[in-house]
Amino acid sequence: MNLPMKVRIKEVGPRDGLQNEKMFIETKDKVQWIDLLSKTGLDYIEVTSFVHPKWIPQLADSGEVLKSIKRETGVTYAALVPNIKGLERALEVNVDEVSVFMSASEGHNKSNINKTIDETFPILKEVVNEAKKAKVSVRGYVSTVIACPYDGPVTPEQVLKVVEKLAEMGVSEISLGDTIGVGVPTQVEQLLTVLLKYYPANLFAMHFHDTRGTALANIVKSLELGITTFDSSTGGLGGCPYAKGASGNVSTEDLLYLLSEMNIETGINMDALMEAAFFIEGKIGKKLPSKQMEIARNERSAKIDNARTI
Ligand code: HMG
Ligand code: MG
Repeated sequence: MNLPMKVRIKEVGPRDGLQNEKMFIETKDKVQWIDLLSKTGLDYIEVTSFVHPKWIPQLADSGEVLKSIKRETGVTYAALVPNIKGLERALEVNVDEVSVFMSASEGHNKSNINKTIDETFPILKEVVNEAKKAKVSVRGYVSTVIACPYDGPVTPEQVLKVVEKLAEMGVSEISLGDTIGVGVPTQVEQLLTVLLKYYPANLFAMHFHDTRGTALANIVKSLELGITTFDSSTGGLGGCPYAKGASGNVSTEDLLYLLSEMNIETGINMDALMEAAFFIEGKIGKKLPSKQMEIARNERSAKIDNARTI
């Protein structure tokens, strides 16, 4: 297997994770969580989004969050923006990078941002142009790259059409989202084989939701094909409220375990990451799906049982 020596993990839990939780996590707790994440060795954290607060009330405090976090040198603090209004709000609080987003399928694009695909291109182009004027880099997301919860299967050619437009606009990276976590490695291979005919592997990041437990298998396939950037969420939080059936992103701890056992460097410290994961689990008040957290919970209760029997 031809594998990279180093991989970059982009933590999207504070945005993708919290947007899909029913409860509103208090601003001070979001800030404390992000501050813990900043001490893990992660060099990229998507901290929030500047979408319409009626659409995602869980992140209505995005400006306060960005203003209140302790920024560590070397960490990029990014936010999702859907349009110029979102960009202006993000620039006011000195975001380091913004992410624009749209879908490869009409059904999800309409449900998520209330526009057709063709109506979305000029809106994102304006964001990219204005962000660049403000010297802020822009990442692009393409959602539903394998299938759409409304339209069904999505072809690599549909994804290519959106990738071409985003690349033309000049985004620095394109994150390909399996939004509802249906993909398997053979489909990932079909998709990347088409895209990599036209673009270098380092233009892409992969963003797998783990709804059916296939995210890590898809990541291994992507690694084999030369991809070296992956999005993940602490604890396996995540999901898009406008994509029925979407559950959490691949968990950052499980991804870190996989990569470190494969001797692929990430610069991230597992103990610090677990501290951040248990912190946010405590605030959310329910068990998060990460396997590494489950192992740690079981080890803890085994220790307590042992102590009781001694
Ligand atoms: P709309 O209602 O069509 O907006 O929503 P509009 O442009 O017609 O404007 C209506 C009103 O909203 C106006 O106010 C605007 O000023 C205001 P009024 O004049 O009526 O008083 N408005 C805003 N206010 C605050 N911030 C803004 C903003 N924009 C307009 N940014 C819109 C269109 C895009 C705003 C809405 O659909 C929206 O906010 N959608 C976001 C949905 C979302 O956040 N989804 C989850 C993130 S995507 C995801 O999770 C997938 C990903 O993880 C990858 C993957 O997994 O595949 C990235
Ligand atoms: Mg997502």
